[in-house]
Amino acid sequence: MLDVCMALLSDRELQQYRRFRFPDDSHHYLISHALVRYVLSKYTDISPRDWVFSESDHGRPEVANPGLPPIRFNLSHTRGLAACVVTLSRDCGIDVEKIHARHNPAGVAKRMFSEDEYGQMQRLSGHEQLEYFFTRWTLREAYVKARGIGISFPTHKLNFIVESDSDIKIDFDPDIQDDGGDWQFQLLPVSTGHITAVAIRREGAENIVTRLLGNDFSPFIHG
Ligand SMILES: CC(C)(COP(=O)(O)OP(=O)(O)OC[C@H]1O[C@@H](n2cnc3c(N)ncnc32)[C@H](O)[C@@H]1OP(=O)(O)O)[C@@H](O)C(=O)NCCC(=O)NCCS
Repeated sequence: MLDVCMALLSDRELQQYRRFRFPDDSHHYLISHALVRYVLSKYTDISPRDWVFSESDHGRPEVANPGLPPIRFNLSHTRGLAACVVTLSRDCGIDVEKIHARHNPAGVAKRMFSEDEYGQMQRLSGHEQLEYFFTRWTLREAYVKARGIGISFPTHKLNFIVESDSDIKIDFDPDIQDDGGDWQFQLLPVSTGHITAVAIRREGAENIVTRLLGNDFSPFIHG
């Protein structure tokens, strides 16, 4: 199985794969980069080995094969889970995080979340608080990754209103040049121990269809 994945990677990806110090990190890299190639090939005649990627100024990978429709994607990986999102031309971002105890989540939330979100989080405790923390974290990451901007984005100027996994609104501080109506957010129930958030820039009020392909990949994951 790992040989199959390795055979899909480009020379550049293989170099990166060999550079990791810890086997877990190289393993995540290998599986997730093979996954992206495999998923993209579900939508075209390009075989997984033949995908070519370029990178934006902030390192966001994009499909660079000539002559294709504008297929976009984004990838995220963490301990125990890799996920990617694919769209036709729309900006898209995905983030997955394993829910785990972490040092001083309240301190991080005070810096990175809106005042409202920080206040709500402070009223929670234990697992509920951690779940809240990683939900707001992944939503921010998904948005920042969809825009392809870097780590310096002032994420405390975003405020998420989460009514349900698919009813999520975003408010921006006035100095952020963006419109909440242009974005669809979704939390995907991929795994009980992880939070998976997707951000897609839409046109008009209609949500983009989000189709979860997880089960289609069991031969890829286990075979
Ligand atoms: C790279 C970055 C965008 C995501 O990092 P991360 O969460 O550690 O990692 P993820 O597994 O979710 O995503 C990594 C993948 O995103 C893609 N990626 C890299 N740079 C990217 C960028 N600027 N924009 C979008 N996607 C990017 C790559 O496919 C990368 O995979 P690779 O590292 O195996 O090549 C991160 O460095 C970053 O800038 N995050 C936003 C910072 C932030 O403010 N977070 C606070 C949230 S409260």
